[in-house]
Amino acid sequence: METKNLTKGYLDVPIDLSLDLFQEINNLKKEKNAIILAHYYQDADIQDIADFIGDSLALSQEAAKTPAKIIVFAGVHFMAETAKILCPDKKVLLPDLNAGCSLADSCPSDKFKEFKLKNPDHLVISYINCSSEIKALTDIICTSSNAEKIINSLPKEQKIIFAPDKNLGAYMRKITGRDLLLWDGSCMVHEIFSLEKIIKLKNKYPNAKIIAHPECEEDLLEIADFIGSTSALLAFTKKSEAKEFIVVTESGILHQMMKNSPEKLFLAAPPNNSCACNECPYMKLNTLEKLYNCLKYELPEINLPIELMESAKKPIIKMLELSAKFGI
Ligand code: 13P
Ligand code: SF4
Repeated sequence: METKNLTKGYLDVPIDLSLDLFQEINNLKKEKNAIILAHYYQDADIQDIADFIGDSLALSQEAAKTPAKIIVFAGVHFMAETAKILCPDKKVLLPDLNAGCSLADSCPSDKFKEFKLKNPDHLVISYINCSSEIKALTDIICTSSNAEKIINSLPKEQKIIFAPDKNLGAYMRKITGRDLLLWDGSCMVHEIFSLEKIIKLKNKYPNAKIIAHPECEEDLLEIADFIGSTSALLAFTKKSEAKEFIVVTESGILHQMMKNSPEKLFLAAPPNNSCACNECPYMKLNTLEKLYNCLKYELPEINLPIELMESAKKPIIKMLELSAKFGI
């Protein structure tokens, strides 16, 4: 394959404007035996071209079982890394390497190693939104879909460090009653929702259900009618008899909610800035154009040292095994 310039973190190759990118991407997928996995926070057109859309747990489960030769991850870096760790022999591509995660960045591995050393009697549960280095320092990975069950599966006397999200950790403390030792990390997207503006919106739409992701701060979770992972929020909107929802998570999820329940009204919860909705700047770095170039030239590719992948794989496998046992 010809060498391509990746200094920007993605392929900046001009694309013929007359191309039907949906058609071209579908052709490339077939030709190369590739699968596109997309998170619910991706742009609508990326969700529409994906072979599988899901939350962090479902995406890792799908990555672990796909027979495809190439996985294109339309999501962020830690998600593509997880897919590579689970499938080291496959080619894993990420359309833009700059698609990081503020939550993963809030937990540097050198600092976390010190924290862990100071608490040697603690077992480490880390949210999947962390780097492979943190995963390698972890006993069990979790996502917002399985964190409660994983924590509850451990003996009551077991001391636990929960990293890196202090908001999900505080929520887990509340619903499991366990005294978790929390790492002080958070997601910039879920921390900037405006409680005041959300209450104003609720006053305008008194019948609307407030549904929130557990990465949000406690004061917001307190006013929520339902709390859950992206897939749990989506499932709730499908089965609920309510007709209006104030959705307190990244606004990309509204695309599937509207597709699944076109007769219902979905209102994106406003952040404490001048924007009407709240988008993850990392997730939104992926575009249809970058996805096309990525699949065409098979770049940028995720590669990690083998020893790191082996250490990081153990806690992810533990999570997948426990999730299978719990039927999630
Ligand atoms: P889930 O889709 O697993 O709920 O995670 C949300 C998120 O913040 C992903 O970055
Ligand atoms: Fe990370 Fe938050 Fe963006 Fe999810 S929404 S990728 S946790 S910064």
